Amino acid sequence: MIYLLGGSGYVGQAYQALLNRKGIPFRNLRRSELDYTDPARLTEALRNDRPEFLINAAGYTGKPNVDACELHKADCLFGNAVLPGRIAEACAAAGVPWGHVSSGCIYTGARADGSGFREEDPPNFSFRTNNCSFYSGSKALGEEVLAGQDNVYIWRLRIPFDHVDSPRNYLTKLMRYDRLLEATNSISQLHEFVAATFACWEKRVPFGIYNVTNPGEVTTRDVVSLIQKSGVCTKDFQFFQDESEFMLKAAKTPRSNCVMDSSKLTRAGIQMTEVHEAIEQALQEWTKV
Ligand SMILES: NC(=O)c1ccc[n+]([C@@H]2O[C@H](COP(=O)([O-])OP(=O)(O)OC[C@H]3O[C@@H](n4cnc5c(N)ncnc54)[C@H](OP(=O)(O)O)[C@@H]3O)[C@@H](O)[C@H]2O)c1
Repeated sequence: MIYLLGGSGYVGQAYQALLNRKGIPFRNLRRSELDYTDPARLTEALRNDRPEFLINAAGYTGKPNVDACELHKADCLFGNAVLPGRIAEACAAAGVPWGHVSSGCIYTGARADGSGFREEDPPNFSFRTNNCSFYSGSKALGEEVLAGQDNVYIWRLRIPFDHVDSPRNYLTKLMRYDRLLEATNSISQLHEFVAATFACWEKRVPFGIYNVTNPGEVTTRDVVSLIQKSGVCTKDFQFFQDESEFMLKAAKTPRSNCVMDSSKLTRAGIQMTEVHEAIEQALQEWTKV
């Protein structure tokens, strides 16, 4: 049996769908039913139910976007930096291995030679580099809290998208925003992300950090052109002149845009679809709910 924390959320629901599809029994914990942020209560539940693995998909993302984290700093810090440490404490006490959903938003840009950031690269969009959003800073702190812990996977998700029209889906966001920021990013197909992360556990690949993005990188204009080609949305997309105009007119805090290297995951035997192909597939299967 698997324990799932944050299963009610956007990423957590994708885990629920995966586990249901695979017929794997799991317990979806909600804070309202069992306060899993209290290490003593979580340890007790783990000792009673003895799950073989725990997935932490809980965290604070800010709605409708990361700007909200600037206004709710205590919740953000608690959900993204304190909570992972408490889960680590409970899992260590009960002897349960686990996986934590982190984020690639702890980086900005690319390595000096233009290649993607690797797992061992220190975050360059964090409180330590003093250039980040509060959300990114809190996610980098969460990884610091878990540094050196045994029995935990840290899975870095980045700008999730899939085939279902939803305000949380990156493709929907691009179609709905009035104007877009041109940027280069590595991104994650949500259902491939949850499948790849769970495969880490199933295949018993070594614990540690994994960048879980679709191989390659895309610019905003690449994605827009795929959207237009698919016929899902053919509007005339408008762009900000540059990041300064975006910051002035549309955002309260800087955004992370970055390229990531997911070859460690591939080397571990877990393959995700090339990013352009994954976007095309999502658009081919586009579903409005
Ligand atoms: N969505 C993205 O774009 C994205 C990108 C990269 C990484 N991530 C990471 O993925 C994880 C899940 O994100 P999500 O988009 O699925 O978030 P979400 O839709 O907001 O769901 C998060 C869930 O976490 C639980 N939770 C526990 N402590 C919380 C707190 N202090 N504040 C708010 N919620 C809390 C809640 O479940 P209960 O109250 O039911 O227990 C909530 O439903 C987060 O760690 C996030 O940083 C997300």
